[in-house]
Amino acid sequence: MTTIDRVLGAGIERIDGPAKVRGSAPYAFEQDPGEPITHLALVQSTINRGRITRLDPSAAEATPGVLAVLTPANAPRLSGELTADLPVLQSLDVHYQGQVVAAVVAETSEIARAAVGGVRVEYAAEEPDVTLRADRPDLYAPAQVMAGFATDSVIGDVDGALSTAAVTVDATYETPAQHNNPIEMHTSMARWDGDSLTLWDANQGPHTIQRDLMTAFGLTAGQVRVISPYVGGGFGSKAFAHPHQILAAMAARVVGRTVVLELTRQQMFSLVGHRTPTIQRVRLGADSEGRLTAISHEVVEHTARIAEFAEQTATATRVMYAAPHRRTTHRLARLDVPPPTIMRAPGETPGMFALESAMDELAHTLGIDPVELRIRNEPPRDPERDVPWSSRSLVECLRTGAERFGWAGRDLRPGVRTDGRWLVGTGVAAATYPSRRRKADCRISVDGRGRYLVEIDGSDIGTGTWTALTQIAADALHVGLGEVELRIGDSRLPFAGGAGGSTGLASWGSAVVLTARQLRARLESLGGQPPPDGLTVDGGVPGPSPHAEQYSMHSFGAHFVEVRVDADTGEVRVPRATSVYAAGTIANATTARSQFLGGFCMGLSMALHEESLQDEHFGHFVNHDLAGYHIATNADVGEIDISWLDEEDPWVNELGLKGIGEIGIVGAAAAVANGYWHATGRRIRDLPLTPDKFF
Ligand code: MOS
Repeated sequence: MTTIDRVLGAGIERIDGPAKVRGSAPYAFEQDPGEPITHLALVQSTINRGRITRLDPSAAEATPGVLAVLTPANAPRLSGELTADLPVLQSLDVHYQGQVVAAVVAETSEIARAAVGGVRVEYAAEEPDVTLRADRPDLYAPAQVMAGFATDSVIGDVDGALSTAAVTVDATYETPAQHNNPIEMHTSMARWDGDSLTLWDANQGPHTIQRDLMTAFGLTAGQVRVISPYVGGGFGSKAFAHPHQILAAMAARVVGRTVVLELTRQQMFSLVGHRTPTIQRVRLGADSEGRLTAISHEVVEHTARIAEFAEQTATATRVMYAAPHRRTTHRLARLDVPPPTIMRAPGETPGMFALESAMDELAHTLGIDPVELRIRNEPPRDPERDVPWSSRSLVECLRTGAERFGWAGRDLRPGVRTDGRWLVGTGVAAATYPSRRRKADCRISVDGRGRYLVEIDGSDIGTGTWTALTQIAADALHVGLGEVELRIGDSRLPFAGGAGGSTGLASWGSAVVLTARQLRARLESLGGQPPPDGLTVDGGVPGPSPHAEQYSMHSFGAHFVEVRVDADTGEVRVPRATSVYAAGTIANATTARSQFLGGFCMGLSMALHEESLQDEHFGHFVNHDLAGYHIATNADVGEIDISWLDEEDPWVNELGLKGIGEIGIVGAAAAVANGYWHATGRRIRDLPLTPDKFF
């Protein structure tokens, strides 16, 4: 193999790549449980709210090849501690369309799916309430919003400052519900051996899924093993357990055989969560030089009647810009919808669409370049927590991006440039995402020949963990990549939190670094050579960085885009984009670029296409497949220039690594919408920018 000076940071190709390309890397559906597999198919409610009045499984049960039909009448009882949508088949109540009301286990997938039609279900339906409006009288303030943030924040006198500001913006932005659509469908394969359960599962963190299965079935950690070495994406929908994991385990228990359940794409639109729609009113007040005096960001979003999920939509606004008077609020409507969940940068993604659009509107009102407006409002310290930044490179990202994109000399006027029938404009927006470290344990062993085994329950959901974490280990152990074998994706491995909130590599990597240091110290005390029968060390990190109270820790970035709008059809094109990020240490230049690029493309997709439409009378998501719910493809993506700054952060964690899974998407949709306005002169404040909105 090639020699690399410093293995950490190098753009090493994925070490799991060859196995994936050959099809020998087993995803959940492809695992071999060592016995013939039976298949589960789901009967789902056709109403959005009400109650099952009659359920007759007899025709399905009589189908040759059917092993069992699970219904609320005969399904195993689960623990009463389960919440949200996890108590599957425990009651006759229906809370959303697509809820599982029965499940068929059969010898083959074809038989199971065909037999679903033989389950007769009748309902007493009630009128569902699914419409989110900012003037609903029943909006309420949750106790806190996700990730432990305060629901509201108030500093100074916002209304007073707005009433005396030289210039103000007061605008309401809307983002639609969206659905996580990883390529790999959610899949669970369950086998019981006595009272012990093995689940081969597509998820973002085996320990998280293990915990819910322990609760559901009243089992100990030793009785539940969740195995997930390869996962085909998640974006948040695979972070937590959903009904399918419980159902697969339940069915396997009933039939005494291995059972696999692979959700269909359509089923994913009701059974694995979605991003809440938002209505966001942003008010900005500034002096005539563009210095912000007041920032107000009020968010309305929905949650399910059966589970509160409060997205932290306005929290990015708490850190972005200086202003003495500031306010953020979150209000929820409890609707008859399936429980929402996290979707790539939950909170920051819709929240920064609103804030960064409003900043663009303010720049226009003032006649100031939008890059310059942001630089003028750069806060020297965290403006709400009043603590220093661990590091903050937003201004440098903006300046570097402007340079790479060719922003200088941009005409501020909207709607004046044409190229044939295309209206042409450019847009900018900033990005941010918090940097956090979470508890992670790690075990490293060295054998007598100097081969290292690194064990930690990290996850690779397509992000590059297999490679990047091996690089971190080799670097920390001062050995070559070839000397290190990594094991991740199994709840039997030392505890770690899942891939989520951009905490994965920051947490797992820190645990690996500290454990490697301990092992090296032990080896040195033994004269540098491993003993013939090897040596094992257990280590890890206990939780957040010890400096997290003292410093405000965030990554930052800036997006620049060119937008073209067809004046005849309203078609929107983004032929080129430049994104510059500052996220501390980059562990692998190749996989990091892919993460940033993928994040940006997801933001582009949000800007142009993604929208889950709810039927106002029946309540369900109507466009519940990839034909109706369009996601950006190669045809939508032009040239994208991705780069990042060298940024050293001594406070965030042992590696100075801030995490990069989410920041790519944050602000990307605002950059596109701002470019759309610059091209057309029309400000579209409700995403996506579909052609109909042009006319
Ligand atoms: Mo990410 S939405 O935290 O999986």
